[in-house]
Amino acid sequence: MSTQPAVRLADGRCVTVRPLCADDAGALIDAVEHEDPWDLRRRFMGTPPPARTLARQLARADGFHDLVLGAFDPDGRLVGVAQFDRLDDAATAELAVEVSHDWQRRRLGTILLSELAELARARGVHEFTASYYGDNVPIRRLLRKVGHASSSGLDHGTGYARINLDADVADVADIAATVTPLCRLP
Ligand SMILES: CC(C)(COP(=O)(O)OP(=O)(O)OC[C@H]1O[C@@H](n2cnc3c(N)ncnc32)[C@H](O)[C@@H]1OP(=O)(O)O)[C@@H](O)C(=O)NCCC(=O)NCCS
Repeated sequence: MSTQPAVRLADGRCVTVRPLCADDAGALIDAVEHEDPWDLRRRFMGTPPPARTLARQLARADGFHDLVLGAFDPDGRLVGVAQFDRLDDAATAELAVEVSHDWQRRRLGTILLSELAELARARGVHEFTASYYGDNVPIRRLLRKVGHASSSGLDHGTGYARINLDADVADVADIAATVTPLCRLP
């Protein structure tokens, strides 16, 4: 039984958000194998790596240079993943996020990235970078909620953004205030 507080989403469903570790490999493989193929392509910007390769990467994540956050439904199904990784102790880290298709548009992506940004800042990360298909409207809207875009643009159909995690701390705190505490269950 998880000791993490549950978070209630806009539609009343609950998730538990916590960092993933090597023991979560099975849940990750199951999630990838059942994910919507087009969502996976948008997440990896092409053919995704085999699920077992992702599980091996998860086992190597040290929670400091690379950190993987997961959201679980009450049945223990992994329904969202947000992660960052960086070189050495760099202040800039690349982020990636995916929410299961049947859990999208309920602010789960916002909750995951807000929590990821908080954990990143606590580890000395001050900027996220992200790249995505240029027509990926959901991620562009989602990134605006995490921090201030110091630069963003399009290059041959690929969108990119650099998100300053320090500039809009007040906004991020607002998200935490309006989403997480109000929705946390006892
Ligand atoms: C991007 C993604 C993680 C968003 O997750 P989500 O849980 O649906 O996000 P939220 O519900 O928190 O919504 C965040 C914002 O995106 C908007 N949004 C979400 N889905 C949308 C859609 N299909 N069309 C338009 N806007 C959308 C929301 O309206 C919200 O913006 P708003 O508050 O200004 O209205 C999800 O669409 C996804 O997993 N996509 C596939 C993987 C991917 O593209 N990853 C990005 C590359 S790393």
